[in-house]
Amino acid sequence: MSFLQLTGLTKFYGDTCAVADMNLSVEKGEFVSLLGPSGCGKTTTLQMVAGFEPVTRGRIELDGRDITHAKANTRGLGIVFQTYALFPHMTVSANVSFGLEMRKMPRAERAERVRDALALVHLEAHAAKYPRELSGGQRQRVALARALVIEPPVLLLDEPLSNLDAQLREEMQFELRRIQRQVGTTTVMVTHDQGEAMSISDRVVVMEQGRATQVDRPQRLYEHPRTRFISTFVGKANLLEGRVNGEGAVDVGPLRVVVDDTGFRPGAAVLLSVRPEKLQFVVAGLGRIDGEVAERFFLGSQWLYRVDTAVGALAVLCPNDGRAALEAGQRTGIDWPVHCSRLLPVDSASPAAETAP
Ligand SMILES: Nc1ncnc2c1ncn2[C@@H]1O[C@H](COP(=O)(O)OP(=O)(O)O)[C@@H](O)[C@H]1O
Ligand SMILES: [Mg+2]
Repeated sequence: MSFLQLTGLTKFYGDTCAVADMNLSVEKGEFVSLLGPSGCGKTTTLQMVAGFEPVTRGRIELDGRDITHAKANTRGLGIVFQTYALFPHMTVSANVSFGLEMRKMPRAERAERVRDALALVHLEAHAAKYPRELSGGQRQRVALARALVIEPPVLLLDEPLSNLDAQLREEMQFELRRIQRQVGTTTVMVTHDQGEAMSISDRVVVMEQGRATQVDRPQRLYEHPRTRFISTFVGKANLLEGRVNGEGAVDVGPLRVVVDDTGFRPGAAVLLSVRPEKLQFVVAGLGRIDGEVAERFFLGSQWLYRVDTAVGALAVLCPNDGRAALEAGQRTGIDWPVHCSRLLPVDSASPAAETAP
């Protein structure tokens, strides 16, 4: 039995279906992210779990208890939103202490719990400050301490880092994961940032138009995306239209690509998906296909190339390992390992879901 269980969870706002038949099992102590473009239903899902939005259909169970229609304040969940909504007129420690006072916890015990929570987020030295005296990252830590101090069974985070600038955001991702591991709180986080979802989650739920379309561990999701949408929303992909032939291979124009397991019947139209970093440059004539470098972009630690080939333009991502980069106009061969070819159904993605997030 999972710790948090969503079964057929559905939400309509009038005629708009925001969440459709969502099923999800979260294990105790797990960190799960809901990932998807803006408007796909992530926040609505979280709000239903929190008890702030009524459920249209379906069930929410927490530790074996049906909480579908329970009042928010009886669920006792820890919640952190994008705008951290600290009380501006209260000190850091008063902010963190607030939830415990509401629960009528005795003063001495409260002080100890607040001290522990502030230590957890490395803010002991700032206990007497006011929110306005803190940086964005520090304020977000206060919000986290405030949510965790009540020792909630589940922590709900809605885009908790999206107000932070890029570098701080990356630091806080690891920090968030460290804190979550240390306290072991079951966590569900909403994000539209695939890198963020993958770097800190045990499992990622990809949502498209109110539906969960893939639930997997980050590496599995990245290496085995189930749909065209996921293959390009999570990482980048070269997508080539092809047709399965009878011999465990796919024909892409003049190119025949042997794949591990087609999983499609012979004759089926498919998309062959290969990630840019799986492609390698080899001597022309010695790879799967030859091409001509059309453009190159310097990304610091990597070079990104666009190479024109007989099957179309291919993106190739190479580490900047100190060797000379290829020049525009240069001929090159391109190869990739057999096990890095993925086949996807052509028609799996709903067209609306393919617009950029
Ligand atoms: N209070 C509301 N009233 C009406 N429609 C809403 C409301 N909240 C969200 N929606 C709609 O529900 C869909 C999902 O929204 P939301 O859950 O906020 O998506 P996300 O968090 O993934 O960006 C969107 O189409 C949005 O416009
Ligand atoms: Mg949202």
